[in-house]
Amino acid sequence: MSSQRTDTQEGRINLFDPAFTANPQPVYQELHKKCPVAHTAGVGGRALTRYEDVLFALRHPENFSSAMGAARLGNVRPLIPLQIDPPELVKYRKLLDPLFSHKKSLEMAPDMRKLANQLIDAFIDTGECEFTKDFAIPYPCTVIVRLMGLPQEDLDLLLELKNGIVRPTTTDYEEATRLRAETAQRIYAYFEKVLDLREKKSGEDLISYFLAAEVGGERLTRNDVLDICFLFLLGGLDTVTASLGCGFAYLATHPEQRRLIVEDPSLIPTAAEELLRWDTPVMGVARVVKQDVTIGDVELKAGESVTVLLGAADVDEQEFPEANRVDFRRERNRHLAFGGGAHRCLGSHLSRVELCVAYEEFHRRIPEYQLKTGEEPKYGLGIREVQHLPLVFGDAAASGGQKASE
Ligand code: HEM
Repeated sequence: MSSQRTDTQEGRINLFDPAFTANPQPVYQELHKKCPVAHTAGVGGRALTRYEDVLFALRHPENFSSAMGAARLGNVRPLIPLQIDPPELVKYRKLLDPLFSHKKSLEMAPDMRKLANQLIDAFIDTGECEFTKDFAIPYPCTVIVRLMGLPQEDLDLLLELKNGIVRPTTTDYEEATRLRAETAQRIYAYFEKVLDLREKKSGEDLISYFLAAEVGGERLTRNDVLDICFLFLLGGLDTVTASLGCGFAYLATHPEQRRLIVEDPSLIPTAAEELLRWDTPVMGVARVVKQDVTIGDVELKAGESVTVLLGAADVDEQEFPEANRVDFRRERNRHLAFGGGAHRCLGSHLSRVELCVAYEEFHRRIPEYQLKTGEEPKYGLGIREVQHLPLVFGDAAASGGQKASE
């Protein structure tokens, strides 16, 4: 299926092409030069790659709409707030934003620190861990499960449901669509039961809050709450895991960079931002053209699908001088890993605190680590996660982990 492959000569990108996901930055940069408004293979439509164009799309929902109707992810109604355009979007964001403010997120840091240390306690004496399974998944997912007041023992089921939507086990488009629709029904059924329980007995959790909340003087409908929960499952259980996987894979293979943050942990906040820029986990976000618009010399017609490539924008030399240098002291870093405009990530403050706490605690306790001999980070398709990241540290690392690759 060569026509499905990423091919920069032909200005084509396939986000599900393993050769591309293994090393996306050079592909993005070739496209900036050869075909900044690229073609997307498989799903059809166009892809924006330049920082300037990506920012324009994010900031102009009147041209680039997020209201793609239901069913794209198996859902039967639009996900709230992701698939709602302004001005309706604003009322939902007014309700949700205060719950995820910078201040509220910082207040959660002590619990996150405790959790991170409990997870590290479980493997530190063995001298090794499979970072994805032992840390990157349970750490942020536990935070979200607690926030939503869901039982911790449901985590495996919730991950299975999330994966069924975000990472279907097949690359066949029709089969994936069928699997997503099936999984979506299970997600609705799961949250219906949770809502029944909360209606009988509310708590201090987000779901209880949604059930009681008013937007513009009106209570959210039951379907509204379901549509928010559906999105939280997707947004909350995947992205921080993905960011941690990308960040630690980089640090495991670049010891000189890792030692900078070990020796000076005050660099961690800017390092975390730079790692999000360099290996932007949500590589692209979906839009549909609402009104004809010209980007560069390409006219995009109403109805066309557009993938807004955040990952490509984040390595654009026009915005980031020496874009290929991962610089933990980069001063101006307006990366788009959390998107931009009206739909900017609701969980960005929470995620930043989670990431910084993880980098701080892990490196405080395990300053030296490397990839297990013979192993390579294995990147998944879609959102850029590292599926398998075996690390060795302590004596095991000294006696033969893998040498860092540049
Ligand atoms: C490092 C981790 C994360 C990354 C990289 C990330 C990335 C993004 C991006 C790129 C968008 C914009 C989507 C668009 O424009 O179409 C977004 C939206 C969103 N994110 Fe995150 N996200 C992260 C963590 C989280 C977490 C932990 C939550 C859980 C609360 C969350 C909840 C949301 C929601 C609800 C939206 C939709 C906002 C809207 O449409 O108005 N995200 N995220």
